[in-house]
Amino acid sequence: MRVLITGGCGFIGSNFIRYFNSKHPYYKILNVDKLTYAGNLENLKGIERKGNYHFVRADISSASVMRRIFDKFRPDAVINFAAETHVDRSILSPAPFIKTNVVGVGVLLNLSLKYHVKKFLQISTDEVYGSILHGSFREDSPLDPSSPYAASKAAADMLVISYYKTHGLPVLITRSSNNYGPYQFPEKLIPLVILNAMNNKKVPVYGDGMNIRDWLYVEDNCEAIDLVFHEGKIGEIYNIGGENELTNLYVVKYIIKLLGKSESLITFVKDRPGHDRRYSLSLSKIRRQIGWHPKVSFETGLKRTIEWYRKNQRWLKNAQSGEYRNFYKQYYSKLGLKEF
Ligand code: NAD
Ligand code: DAU
Repeated sequence: MRVLITGGCGFIGSNFIRYFNSKHPYYKILNVDKLTYAGNLENLKGIERKGNYHFVRADISSASVMRRIFDKFRPDAVINFAAETHVDRSILSPAPFIKTNVVGVGVLLNLSLKYHVKKFLQISTDEVYGSILHGSFREDSPLDPSSPYAASKAAADMLVISYYKTHGLPVLITRSSNNYGPYQFPEKLIPLVILNAMNNKKVPVYGDGMNIRDWLYVEDNCEAIDLVFHEGKIGEIYNIGGENELTNLYVVKYIIKLLGKSESLITFVKDRPGHDRRYSLSLSKIRRQIGWHPKVSFETGLKRTIEWYRKNQRWLKNAQSGEYRNFYKQYYSKLGLKEF
């Protein structure tokens, strides 16, 4: 099978390519990634030596470039991880989110139809449902996104479903909760707290720290995506969660404790605008239809993650390029905060 994977140099995409390649060593993989600030070729070190893996730097929203790639590679399947993914960035500058997450998906869908792709898997997010104070979202719950990021992902989901309904394109969608683990760019909560606390820098907690996220170890997500890809029912959506619903403050304090640092590093800052209070997914569909459930406990996953960041200081240093510092300077000043 020839599988075109987009966004494979990012956090989940790179973990997935490693997982997928070890499970299916005879599949041919073409990784198409624009290498934005979040994409890093180092994340796939070692894989490039395998004869069945190839990489092309390209932007999924460029129809002419992507057409040449489809024409040459002739994929049997497409798995789309490529996206702008950071909510805070989407508040400051939504345009790249609309371009990649909506227009880019439109380009991939058109070409998948034209080149008779047999499976199109869109990697989506629990954020498309919005916030829920009680109970959990099912796959047929209405979409109610809050941030420009979430809205762009919801728009993409709608487009994907429209290609199934209108053209019969064989599509699948996964919607997962917050991932954590190795290779996550240190702008997201868990790696940011690890990085700052390791360096005795202040740890910013938005609002009262009582927002709830459901933490999913990235390897569990990779296993679930692989199963949905092979066994999911065409035209269907599958929620993927970690069954670890925790407040941000609990997560932050736990990391600080595991690192042996002081809670005095915690600094409460102005809340993120439109900040969703709680995410929660019902996993009954994926359990029933696919037989999948999350395996890695939060304690085990977090210890593994901290260990990985401890051992990969060079990766962390490279990730904190000028672009990273520029973003935070701009972002914190926009929110009226002092830079950390
Ligand atoms: P990431 O930001 O770490 O990586 C995104 C990757 O996409 C990068 O390698 C980047 O270079 C690439 N990319 C961006 N724009 C592109 C473009 N126009 N063309 C080609 N490549 C482009 O993201 P992630 O956290 O690994 O998320 C991967 C996918 O999973 C995204 O679709 C995201 O919405 C979804 N998701 C993420 C989480 C999470 O907790 N991280 C949870 C649920 C869903
Ligand atoms: O739920 C899935 C989503 O999870 C993915 O679709 C997104 O791509 C991914 O970025 C993530 O979105 P969140 O906004 O939930 O993740 P983030 O790590 O940015 O924030 C997690 C929580 O921690 C959120 O409630 C905001 C809070 N936070 C975040 C940062 C970066 C802080 O309190 N302080 C911080 O410095």
